[in-house]
Order: sequence, then C-alpha cells, then structure tokens
Amino acid sequence: MINWDDFEHIHVIDKLRLILNSWWNIDLLFTDDRGQVKGFTGKAQCKNPATAFLMEKDACRANLSEMVTKAVEDLRNSDNRFSIRKWDMVGYDVGVFPLMIENDFMGTVLAVGFFRDENFTQKLTEVRDRLAAFGCSSEMIEKAFTMFKSVDEAERQHFADLCDLVAQEVKTLHLEITSREDRIKELNKELGSRFKYDNMIGKSKSMQGLYALMDKIKGADSTVLIQGDNGTGKELIAKSIHYNSHRRDKAFVIQNCSAFVDNLLESELFGHVKGSFTGALKDKKGLFEIADKGTFFLDEIGDTSPQMQVKLLRVLQEGTFMPVGATEGRKVDVRIIAATNRNLREMVEQGTFREDLYYRLNVINIRVPSLKERKEDIPLLAEYFLQKACEQKGGLKKTLTRRALEKLYDYSWPGNVRELQNEMERCVVLAGEEIKISEELLSGKIIESAEKGKIQGARLQGKLKDALEALERDMIHEGLRRTGWNKSKLAKELGISRAGLIMKVEKYGLDKRKMMRS
Ligand SMILES: Nc1ncnc2c1ncn2[C@@H]1O[C@H](COP(=O)(O)OP(=O)(O)OP(=O)(O)O)[C@@H](O)[C@H]1O
Ligand SMILES: [Mg+2]
Repeated sequence: MINWDDFEHIHVIDKLRLILNSWWNIDLLFTDDRGQVKGFTGKAQCKNPATAFLMEKDACRANLSEMVTKAVEDLRNSDNRFSIRKWDMVGYDVGVFPLMIENDFMGTVLAVGFFRDENFTQKLTEVRDRLAAFGCSSEMIEKAFTMFKSVDEAERQHFADLCDLVAQEVKTLHLEITSREDRIKELNKELGSRFKYDNMIGKSKSMQGLYALMDKIKGADSTVLIQGDNGTGKELIAKSIHYNSHRRDKAFVIQNCSAFVDNLLESELFGHVKGSFTGALKDKKGLFEIADKGTFFLDEIGDTSPQMQVKLLRVLQEGTFMPVGATEGRKVDVRIIAATNRNLREMVEQGTFREDLYYRLNVINIRVPSLKERKEDIPLLAEYFLQKACEQKGGLKKTLTRRALEKLYDYSWPGNVRELQNEMERCVVLAGEEIKISEELLSGKIIESAEKGKIQGARLQGKLKDALEALERDMIHEGLRRTGWNKSKLAKELGISRAGLIMKVEKYGLDKRKMMRS
C-alpha cells in the first residue's frame, strides 16, 4: 500500500505541482487503487476555488472516484498511458495518469481543472450552471473562470510528461521506502540477532560483529585499541568490556590524554612522591595504581606527547612505572584500553606516534563504524533516545513521524550517535505536550541536508521544455547517485529503457567519469 500522506510533501512533487499550477492553474490530486482521493488536506491545497469547493463535498469526491475508475478501466483496454477526459459532473477536463508498480495498479495522479480545446468559452455556460447547482457562489465561479486555461495539442505532451514525472516520483519513493523497510525487517528477523549489548544499541551487521568480538575478548586481559569517529560510542564500548570482564569489581579508570599538560599528566598517571615538585605536598597515588587489578581507559591516546608515549610504552611492556620523583618502579596489573578518533597508523607513518607503542596498544583492534555506515540503526537509536529523554522529562512517550524519521535517515550525522542523542533530547523539549515529533522540529541542518539530497529548484519561468529538461537532468543525476550509477536499476525505476537512459546520460553530460572530475 502506498502511504499517500508521505508524498504530499516531497520536494519534487511540490515543485511539479507548482509548475502545473503556475502554467495552467491545474491542481494535482492523488487517488488510491479504488479511486478514492488521497492525501487531500483541504481547500488550501487547490488553487482553483471551484475545484477546492467541490473536493470538500462527499458526493463530488464519489463522482470523481467513479470517473477515475472508469478511465482506468478504459486505459486497460487501450495502448494509451493516460487519459484526458471531461469530468461530466462539472464540465471541465481532468487528466488521469495511472500509477503502476511492478504491474500492479496502485492509484492515479490526477490533473484537475483545464480544457482541452483552445476555444472553451462556449463550454463555460455549462460549467457555470453545474457549479451553481452544487451551491458554488457566483463570486467563486467568476474567480474560477479567470483561472481556466487550455492545454492545447502543442502543450499536451509536456503536460503529460510533467504528470508522468509525478507518478514516477511517487513510484520511486514508494519503492525506496519499502525496500528500506524490508531491509530493516530482514535485519530484525536475523536469527539470534542482538540489538543491544549492555547499554549499546544497534542491530546492524557491523554492530553484530562488534558484539561478537566483545564477547570473545571479555575474558582476556589483552590490550584493546578502539578507533572510531567522534561520538561513535568508544567510551561506551570500553566500559562494557570492563564490566563484562573478571575485573568488573575493581576500578574502571578513565584518563583523557589530551586534557593535561605533560607534567601534570605524568603525575596524574603515575603519582608522585612528596616534595618532587613545587606543590607536591604529600605522596599521591597515580591513576595506574588506582586502576590496579582493574581497567585503565586511555582516551584520546593519539594526543599524547612523544615523551609521554615513551613512559606509556614502558608500563605496557614491563607492567612497571615510576612515580614522579620516586627512585624505584612500581608494578601493577591493569588492563589497558585505549581509544582515539585519529588515524594512528597514519600518525605512525608520519612519525608523530611511536610505532612500538602502536603495536603494543593494537593487540585487539576495534573499529567502531560511524553512524552513516549503519543507517539501519538510526530508527532504533532514535527510539531509544526518545524513550530515555521522555522518561527523564516525565510524561507520555513521544514518537517520530515517518517523515521526520526519513529526514534522520537522509542526514549524514557527522557527530554520530552523540549528535543523534542530542537531537532527540532537543526534540523532546521542543515538542512540549505534543506526542508526535514532526520534521519541523528537527534542526535546520538535518532538514536542509535531506533536501539537498533531493532535487532542487525546478524553474518556474521560461520555456517548459527547458524546465522539464532541467528537472529530468536533476532526477537522473540524483538517481544515478542513489543507485551507485546502476543504469539498469535506474532505468527500471524511471520506467524508461536502459538505452534511453544512456542517451539521456550522454545528453546531459552525466557520465560518471565526467561527474567525478567536475
Ligand atoms: N550504540 C550506542 N547505543 C546507545 N548509545 C550510544 C551508542 N553509541 C554511543 N552512544 C551514546 O552516545 C554518546 C557518545 O558516546 P561515547 O562518549 O561513548 O562516544 P566516543 O566515541 O567516546 O566520543 P568522542 O570521540 O567524542 O569521545 C554517549 O552518550 C553514549 O551513551
Ligand atoms: Mg570519548
């Protein structure tokens, strides 16, 4: 089933609707497979006041349904793709464009409110009578009359192309959404699949892999190096490793290696003896000692100075360290987990990170995937953070609208899970008493970036042909990007032949190599 409400606000469809509106004052409507008008959100949606008036009346909608059903039936028995016919009840014309998805009839796109012939004035008397009979005020009728235009023979093809584009866009989006949903369902079904590991949420393949790895290493004492972008959950993973290990009853100590200047960091890590420097008034235990028998999490390990790297290497190699000002080393048993968002291997190549230390740390390597690499986790994470935020705030559980969720899906999440968490907390606050969180509440950058992925600015002036070409070019470009330049797939989606698509790609200079260069 097509979820028509979703398509009402799709950028391309809005644009096409605007074009049909501004050239011919035509209104665009949708019907489902039974001819029922869908996604109609009231008068505001129709530009022609007569159509708007009629659409509010049940009898008129029923009549329209009947006419659409008849038109579709006629089309079945003909070679025509669409039908332009008189809407007998009111006397003006309607274009009916069926929507076929994988050979199933799913509904239609309707273009309402125009005339086929250039000389339609004599027909207006009939229209006036009928509209008046339905209770249309004469003022409304006059206004409607100033709007009627003809779509003559010469413009017919362009008009049809535009309506076809709408139908294709609905189709493409429907397929995209269902395949996305199928994929999520499939992941759900996966036998024994886990969507949670301690406080870690995610059921993508990559997260499953991560859980499996964590299961394997929890019993060991080996050093672990966690690498991943900002906000991907490195600290969460480190904690989980500790609390699942035999060290769980001992300390889990965190030190951010970039936060301290060298001297302070050294005394912080290794402790100092009284009088070793100004201000060292008594002996102080270092974090390594505090972490004895437990786990020591060295965060931002990529930010440690060369001097500090030498000292860390020594602890790792020998298990001993020297408090500042002490004369003999001390021994500890700690498991080291280090994390960084920098590329340590590259740093080794550039000589900014010691190779020997790198190998000491990198006994077990965990790479945490960024959120855009596992977008299928977004719904689950969003849900989880919403729930958490709502519990904290007290009050009913809120949910995202489908369109809001799609926007989240389309955004690239440079700040990863943390950014998603912040976004959900923000939404919960902004939503107030509202239960549904709609897309308008999302941050501008999320809405904008999602828009960017879609098609921009069909032109509203100038030649129809140019505008159509610009739109066609954008749709093909966007489609190529989305399908990874899979022309067969895209041609199918667009309902044209592969050869036809290749010709258009040539025409618009959308060849992959060319695009890469520009
Ligand atoms: N898979 C996940 N499930 C649930 N919450 C997560 C997940 N990953 C991250 N988070 C949450 O996102 C926030 C950021 O996670 P964390 O601090 O572990 O990331 P990080 O990789 O250490 O970030 P940074 O590089 O900025 O230090 C935390 O609030 C954490 O609880
Ligand atoms: Mg961190």
